[in-house]
Amino acid sequence: MDLSLSDLLVEYELAARSTLTQAAFDYIAAGAGEELSLEESRAAWRRHRLRPRVLRGGAVPDVSTDILGTRLAMPLIVAPTAYHQVAHAEGEVETARGVSAAGGLLVVTTRATMVLEEIVAELHGAWWYQVYVVRDHRLIEGLVRRAAGLGASALMLTVDTPYIGFKRHGHYAPVSFEQHLVNFGTHLPEGVAFEDVVAGIDQDPAIGLEIIAWLREISGLPVLVKGVLRGDDAVACLDAGAAGVVVSNHGGRQLDRAVAAAVALPEVAAAVAGRAPVLVDGGIVSGTDVFVALALGATATMVGRPILWGLAAAGGEGVRRVLDGYREELGHAMGLAGVWSIADFSGDLVV
Ligand code: FNR
Repeated sequence: MDLSLSDLLVEYELAARSTLTQAAFDYIAAGAGEELSLEESRAAWRRHRLRPRVLRGGAVPDVSTDILGTRLAMPLIVAPTAYHQVAHAEGEVETARGVSAAGGLLVVTTRATMVLEEIVAELHGAWWYQVYVVRDHRLIEGLVRRAAGLGASALMLTVDTPYIGFKRHGHYAPVSFEQHLVNFGTHLPEGVAFEDVVAGIDQDPAIGLEIIAWLREISGLPVLVKGVLRGDDAVACLDAGAAGVVVSNHGGRQLDRAVAAAVALPEVAAAVAGRAPVLVDGGIVSGTDVFVALALGATATMVGRPILWGLAAAGGEGVRRVLDGYREELGHAMGLAGVWSIADFSGDLVV
């Protein structure tokens, strides 16, 4: 790597700041409320210190891992983020090119601004589909069945967004009606105009645990639940049929003062007790943050904004470089700490 990941991320974020409109930059960067959760999301990973092991043999750390039957080049997944055309003219299609070049796994958002088939055409490995259950369940059912038909190998149901969190810089994304509808449009019942169901694409705040089994049934896919911050909720989701959980406060964009993912993770991992994968995201900006997350019990991590800064600054090549940066840094930290495979992680590695 010619630049460290942290230098690269600073460079890309500065480039994004100077090339994107203020509204576009703010949409990506913002957190909710006073942005306390946003601030703490990074800081909470940095509070941990490592306890390296010595003289344990090994030569080249193996950062690859398996999750829900999918082989991952590293335990880091590209989090679902909405509206990539805000960052790049070719939106999620360009993101997909970068993710594929790095051998990564993309979670495609319900709120994509490019046609799903065009995104999938650029994805050469496994990919997952993120689900917002919208008020008109017919629309999301159509989309979920379509994603399954196109080869998604898991669903990620986001549950921390019954409403969009208030943000200091305004909480509406700078996207047009057409961009918003690009994937929903084809799922309208015959004879119904989109204008008639426009409220139908907002999130449905009334859903409960039963929605997990419904999604599994209509798609035939495992369902991970994203936005869990409590051990009791994680267990309830698994009991209701979830295949895993994602510890997340949505990158500090939903409920401000929600507990940081790094703080919630040990409780959730203890409650899940190895029954299912536990993913985590929010403020993970270095390979060492990934290291800490794995030591605290995560099966894998996800990153959101760093990918968008790479996309805005340098397109798919930027996305690839960001992902390669995480992989190199994680491998480096593992080698120095005497951890030679992902299976070797355990809680004694951090204090
Ligand atoms: C998001 N996130 C998100 N999550 C989701 O499930 N569906 C979505 O459409 C979006 N959209 C979205 C847009 C933008 C601009 C951001 C920054 C985030 C949340 C995302 O999946 C993830 O939880 C956070 O981004 C993780 O925090 P970091 O890595 O951005 O700090």
